[in-house]
Amino acid sequence: MIAQTSAPQAPDIRSEQSAADAKIEALLEHAFGPGRFAKASERVREMAEFRPDLSFCAWEGERLVGSVRMWKIHIGGAPAFFLGPIAVEADQRKHGTGAVLVARACEAAQASGCSLVLLVGDMPYFGRFGFSNDHTAAVRLPGPVDQRRVLAWGATAPLSGPVTA
Ligand SMILES: CC(C)(COP(=O)(O)OP(=O)(O)OC[C@H]1O[C@@H](n2cnc3c(N)ncnc32)[C@H](O)[C@@H]1OP(=O)(O)O)[C@@H](O)C(=O)NCCC(=O)NCCS
Repeated sequence: MIAQTSAPQAPDIRSEQSAADAKIEALLEHAFGPGRFAKASERVREMAEFRPDLSFCAWEGERLVGSVRMWKIHIGGAPAFFLGPIAVEADQRKHGTGAVLVARACEAAQASGCSLVLLVGDMPYFGRFGFSNDHTAAVRLPGPVDQRRVLAWGATAPLSGPVTA
């Protein structure tokens, strides 16, 4: 008799609720450690308006296994969203949860009327979702950053100027 294996069940993706705060903090601590507070992205998040309605959590029952957050920003005065942090628990990676979280956040941004999303991250990962640094050379983050890692989704022309709230 052939043993039956079942594919891992896809986590449940839901809008972020404030009750998840402590679990998200724990997830981010596992994924990034305390060094995350030193990043230029964190300076953006300190000044920007958090948008829980565009932010999503991945749940396996009561266990939080993934999170993506979105923030309202402007780039040189033009409205945009800032994506991050995004993290998936180590034992749940490589099943497409990160991809679903990125897609849901970008779709929600688009549905809200603004299709421009900025992040600081790895091109080899985010490039597959349509993020690129083609138009971001003149975007200024509030802190030192490797400019090649400043990626935009939905940009159709060069972006320039400071990232502000
Ligand atoms: C990045 C992250 C959210 C991806 O979550 P995930 O659920 O595993 O994502 P997916 O299943 O959609 O994609 C997995 C694929 O992306 C690849 N990948 C993950 N991180 C990558 C990176 N930084 N650069 C290039 N590829 C990456 C994996 O190797 C895997 O490749 P495969 O499909 O060939 O096996 C997760 O790895 C994570 O939490 N990492 C720690 C936090 C982090 O680095 N966040 C992003 C900041 S840039």
